[in-house]
Amino acid sequence: QELKLSLEQIEKGGYEHFMLKEIFEQPKSIHDTLRGRLLVEEGIIKMAGIWDHLDRINNAQKITIIACGTSWHAGLIGEYLIEEFARIPVEVEYASEFRYRNPIITENDVVIAISQSGETADTMAALKMAKEKGAFIYGICNVVDSSIARITDAGSYTHAGPEIGVASTKAFTAQLTVLSLIALKLGKHKGNLSNQEFMRLITELEAIPKKVEEVLEKTHEITKEIAKDFVNAQNFLYLGRGYNFPAALEGALKLKEISYIHAEGYPAAEMKHGPIALIDENMPIVIIAPKQGHYDKIVSNVQEIKARKGKIIALVNKGDTQVAAMADYVIEFPETSECFSPIVASVPLQLLSYYIAVYRGANVDQPRNLAKSVTVE
Ligand code: G6P
Repeated sequence: QELKLSLEQIEKGGYEHFMLKEIFEQPKSIHDTLRGRLLVEEGIIKMAGIWDHLDRINNAQKITIIACGTSWHAGLIGEYLIEEFARIPVEVEYASEFRYRNPIITENDVVIAISQSGETADTMAALKMAKEKGAFIYGICNVVDSSIARITDAGSYTHAGPEIGVASTKAFTAQLTVLSLIALKLGKHKGNLSNQEFMRLITELEAIPKKVEEVLEKTHEITKEIAKDFVNAQNFLYLGRGYNFPAALEGALKLKEISYIHAEGYPAAEMKHGPIALIDENMPIVIIAPKQGHYDKIVSNVQEIKARKGKIIALVNKGDTQVAAMADYVIEFPETSECFSPIVASVPLQLLSYYIAVYRGANVDQPRNLAKSVTVE
């Protein structure tokens, strides 16, 4: 029998869509992003971009992170990471807003741009403006030698490899990986982290690719099953707290982008200021509830949802009983430090959106009205 494979089929490496292939590439892409930088045995993080400008960055009056879309969500997690470990004030801005207001940026500021493509027009324009104001510009891009990578003063590439699916997956987790490295490195050099704490965290970080592999293996089937029950859902709520609040935003964005189901991400505690009014037996609610990270608070949020008969899809750590007992669907993911948990928790959320979209017959790799790289305003 003649074997005819199109170039596209070959590129998809046996997966039905680029998105699924890219979701499954994450253990490798995260590993590639860490490679040569995270040297656990030597107890160091090697990043030339940071090292060469250490004083400038560590003495920054504030750090402003500029991005769009998924990269903006990575930026929000970056804020938690950098403020926790480096103790430098961080603001995260949509590039499109930043560029059209009159932001306070001086020569004492550091601006970090996060962009998968390195070509997003709003991010580029915002950076040019920050540069004119004298800020030091740092880039976190995936595409090597892209426009944004070229105008920055320094930077760190995410080594996620080419991302074809319009909905960003492996680039997002690679961005979180780079932000984790930067935050820990700055924290170490500023003396905010004891040697022991630093070693504990970098050892955890090194284990992330393995945990991502585990979560892929263990949640692939269950997310597929759960997806079947929500093919006709019209709305979704995603909730998380702390580091996982931006992960909830990103989970909701993934679903919107590829399945066209309306979804909103919210910090779980904000639920009572609005979204709780939407909860009834028809509302699916994805709640990210790792053991480390405001667990008790999440438990009471889940009780509030339960009392209103919302359909609870809970992401919990292995062995969880309290949240799991109240949930209609349980997805378990391996435990890690709270600061790295969005990397692991995002993976089943990507799979869930993927399968819901596939069952709805949507064009997963090229969703309607969306572009991979938005080079016009
Ligand atoms: C588009 C893409 C998103 C991406 C955003 C920012 O909307 O569809 O996946 O997150 O642009 O792109 P960037 O390349 O700057 O990260």
